[in-house]
Formats: sequence, C-alpha cells, structure tokens
Amino acid sequence: MTQWNGLAITWLGHAAVHITTPQGTQILIDPFLEQNPKYPKDYKLPEKIDLLLLTHGHSDHIADAVSVAKKHHAQVVGIYELTSWLGSKGIENTVGMNLGGSYKYKDVVVSMVEARHSSSIQDGDKTLYAGDPAGFVIAAEGAPVLYHAGDTSLFSDMKLIKELYHPEVGMVPIGDHFTMGPKAGALAAEFLGLKTVLPIHYGTFPQLTGTPAELEEHLKGKGISVRAPKPGETLRES
Ligand code: NI
Ligand code: MN
Repeated sequence: MTQWNGLAITWLGHAAVHITTPQGTQILIDPFLEQNPKYPKDYKLPEKIDLLLLTHGHSDHIADAVSVAKKHHAQVVGIYELTSWLGSKGIENTVGMNLGGSYKYKDVVVSMVEARHSSSIQDGDKTLYAGDPAGFVIAAEGAPVLYHAGDTSLFSDMKLIKELYHPEVGMVPIGDHFTMGPKAGALAAEFLGLKTVLPIHYGTFPQLTGTPAELEEHLKGKGISVRAPKPGETLRES
C-alpha cells in the first residue's frame, strides 16, 4: 500500500471530488454543487483551484463548471468538444484533450481514459454534442495513482487501464440506473487492480439505489477495501 504522503480526497456527494496532492495542487472533479442534494453546504473550497476536471457534459457533472472556473481561477480539463463549449461561455483557461492522452500540470499527470456512457450538454433549450464521456487517471508525485471513472458501465478494457496506469485508489460509480451498480462496480475494482474503492454516484437521487454495503458484500474476500466517507469528509490514508 503506497503512503498517501499528504494526499487528501474529499467526496462532495455524487461524482464531485476534491483532491489535494502531496505538493498541494488543488483538483476538483465534476462540480455539481449548488443543486447537488448531497453537497456539504458548509464545505469551503480552496480559493485557488488548479485543475477542474470534467468527465462529461451531463448537468450532474458540470452544472457549476463555469462559475467554479471563474471564481476559483481554475484551468478546466475535459474532452475537446466540452472545453470548446466552455470557451463559448467565456472560460479561456481550458485544456481540451481526448481519450488516451495525458496532460502534465506541475506535480500531476492527468490521463483521459474511456468510459461507457453518453454525453451531451443542456444549454438552455438546446441539447449539444459534448464529445465522448471519459474517466481520469491522476498520477501525482509521491501519491498512489488515482482513478475517477466518471459515469460508466462495466467494460473489460478497464483491464487496460490497470495495465497502463496501475491505479490503486478508484472512485467508482455504484448507484445503478445511469451507471453500473455495486455488483459491476466490484468487478470493475478487480479489473482495475484497485486496492481501495471509494464509491460515488449513489444515494443522490431515488433511482441511484446501490449502496457501499452491497459493494462491500460483492468484494468479500477479494482483498480490496471499500472506503465510503460522508460528503465533506476527507480521507488521508487507505
Ligand atoms: Ni452522465
Ligand atoms: Mn451522472
């Protein structure tokens, strides 16, 4: 088990996660804050967010992207079509990338990996093409490699993510209905070779019925631990 060395991961409800790297780089993934029923309302985001990572265009992942990017002076990283749309909303500091690519920022290398889902942007009464959905592998110096799956079903090419990046700690959706549920989430953790799973995308809405207890049940005897913090609670070790 790799030492965390100051790495901190805070789940903010749904798929929103705040990460501080050992060197202090601030990363926010999938900002769904104001309208997120599970967002810890008293949580204080850092004044400066270095990287704002967006997995796909659905509103439960990017609802607050424009406001957070502006207020916290964040560089926004996402698939090309999505960051282009943000550009049209006045966000200039964007990094548009695509599946299979990596982007280095200070002590962090962010790699964009496949996710099986749909992606579109609801812009007023228009539904816009947002490119493919994605997941992210986040490798920060001195920290275990992290993986945020975004919204996805189970797919066997998760084994390639293991082979290429060796993630240890995975943020994996388990809510069911719009993504995989706990049984598939457990198999995903195995395919990815994770040591620790932090379940996300559950309990936010009535349809998202999967629970960490079910995930744990399906992982019994597999040597993979489940860490399910409350929204706003920070993990500093596996
Ligand atoms: Ni989605
Ligand atoms: Mn979603």
